[in-house]
Amino acid sequence: MAARGVGLLTRLPLCVQRSPVQRPVHRLLSYPGTVAADLRREEQPAGSAETGSEDRTPKKRFCEVQNERREQAQRTVLIHCPSKISEKRFLKYLSQHGPINNHFFYESFGLYAVVEFHQKESVASLQSVTRTPSLGAEAAIPFRSRYFSLKLKNPSNQTSGQPSVQCSNQSSPASRKLFDLLCCAENVDDQLNTLTKELQLTEENTRLRHLTCSLIEDVAAAYFPDCAIRPFGSSVNSFGKLGCDLDMFLDLDDIGKFSAHKASGNFLMEFQVKNVPSERIASQKILSVIGECLDHFGPGCVGVQKILNARCPLVRFSHQASGFQCDLTTNNRIALRSSELLYIYGALDSRVRALVFTVRCWARAHSLTSSIPGAWITNFSLTIMVIFFLQRRSPPILPTLDYLKTLADAEDKCIIEGHNCTFVRDLNKIKPSGNTETLELLLKEFFEYFGNFAFNKNSINIRQGKEQNKPESSPLHIQNPFETSLNISKNVSQSQLQKFIDLARESAWILHQEDKGHPSPSGNQPWGLAALLLPSVANGVSLAKKKKPASERIKNLLESIKSGPENSTNTNGKRAASPQS
Ligand code: GTP
Ligand code: MG
Repeated sequence: MAARGVGLLTRLPLCVQRSPVQRPVHRLLSYPGTVAADLRREEQPAGSAETGSEDRTPKKRFCEVQNERREQAQRTVLIHCPSKISEKRFLKYLSQHGPINNHFFYESFGLYAVVEFHQKESVASLQSVTRTPSLGAEAAIPFRSRYFSLKLKNPSNQTSGQPSVQCSNQSSPASRKLFDLLCCAENVDDQLNTLTKELQLTEENTRLRHLTCSLIEDVAAAYFPDCAIRPFGSSVNSFGKLGCDLDMFLDLDDIGKFSAHKASGNFLMEFQVKNVPSERIASQKILSVIGECLDHFGPGCVGVQKILNARCPLVRFSHQASGFQCDLTTNNRIALRSSELLYIYGALDSRVRALVFTVRCWARAHSLTSSIPGAWITNFSLTIMVIFFLQRRSPPILPTLDYLKTLADAEDKCIIEGHNCTFVRDLNKIKPSGNTETLELLLKEFFEYFGNFAFNKNSINIRQGKEQNKPESSPLHIQNPFETSLNISKNVSQSQLQKFIDLARESAWILHQEDKGHPSPSGNQPWGLAALLLPSVANGVSLAKKKKPASERIKNLLESIKSGPENSTNTNGKRAASPQS
């Protein structure tokens, strides 16, 4: 019978749990981060990838991956297509404008095609033969974007007998399928890898995210021609789950750079500009006009909300064609840097992503996370907790941020708003860990570690990789890696923290039970990760005591996995701003 509590957990034979075991060949997971890797991916069996300490191929820097993706997106167009279309004829028609590198179709209230040309000129060529529609009584606002609508001149002729095109899937797998996959896995390690593989962003979804940023950049460029819209957060940090929001950063730093560099002789030329009292006010004004622009002229941008009084002002909107919920910020360079740091941690060892995905999914299944602002723990905080835990292993699986700083060279130096954000950018300079613990052991120990953590006096600090005295009295203190005087989990209440602790303890206990940690002989009992994802303590009743019918348990599991935080809405049916610290 399952029981909860520190007592039980601390009575577990720790020496047995901590003994390193033979490291299995991890099923490496694909990370849709680089173009070259995508090509390799097609040649490899499912589950293989470029990340992980076992992979000896040189790993690309975050900025290299991002620049490749950005350039790729600039050669790409989005086309709303008739529901029945001949793929062959469609490609032949578009090829008149130049060779096509890649394309895929997907459905989102209609059929869409994403087409990547080999050259940027092909996009201009396509635009030159595209007309602005005449809408009868309504008037169109002419805007030459890269988002098109394809019409058939003679629908009956062209669609009869056409097989429908194959569509790539842009959402998480059906929960039932996921549950079955978990129950059929060989062991807990296999379960964690399966979960990650099924939930992670696909190559197509990653392309669509970068394309959406690029389309928004075209709108913003009407005001700021040299601006860049860069994705950050889970879309690029390698921890993104299908359906997660699209965090974007309006980067205006390149504007005026040339004039500064080219200054010569006795003169220095400066642009005449309007001054405002603070950076914050500047951000609010810029986002305000971009928000207006998106609302009035942005093709496919709906539900634009300007949330300018948040700690980090933002514009929130839905991009209808891609289905992404977008958060646009500016002057948020530290968040971009955090994304790069997480990307590095995620790429250092294949176990990192598997654990982060699992812990995030577990937290969501038990309603520990939510998209509604409040006293909940965030995915970002959970990720930092996993990183911290992996820094505490013996030998450590991940290096501390201070160590990554010591590996940095002059090029890596980065000071943002007075904060030292320096760390090594070249992943290949970081030695892989010699730790060989299995995912199963790490997951158990994660729950046990945080089930017993002295939250009342200690702070979590990935910069030093050690527990430190809490500088303030918030129930949960996780030091912001770069703005070190800030606590990224200041919003978390004592009761939410207690819920996290209770669940962590119970989950550790479940994984320690013989019958729950291994595939059930009959094959129909949830075990391992599948058992962990069932709501239990969340309802105030221990899993073992509460004998719900299996179907009900499955239903709850399926519901909670499916409705990730990104799908939640507040009572007005609108997503609300998440507090940033
Ligand atoms: P999802 O829940 O999948 O969207 O994860 P996410 O990592 O994208 O989180 P979110 O969209 O809430 O935030 C985007 C990025 O902003 C994060 O990855 C962090 O880099 C940064 N961020 C989020 N929350 C905080 C916070 O509380 N403090 C600080 N300093 N940065 C934050
Ligand atoms: Mg996000």
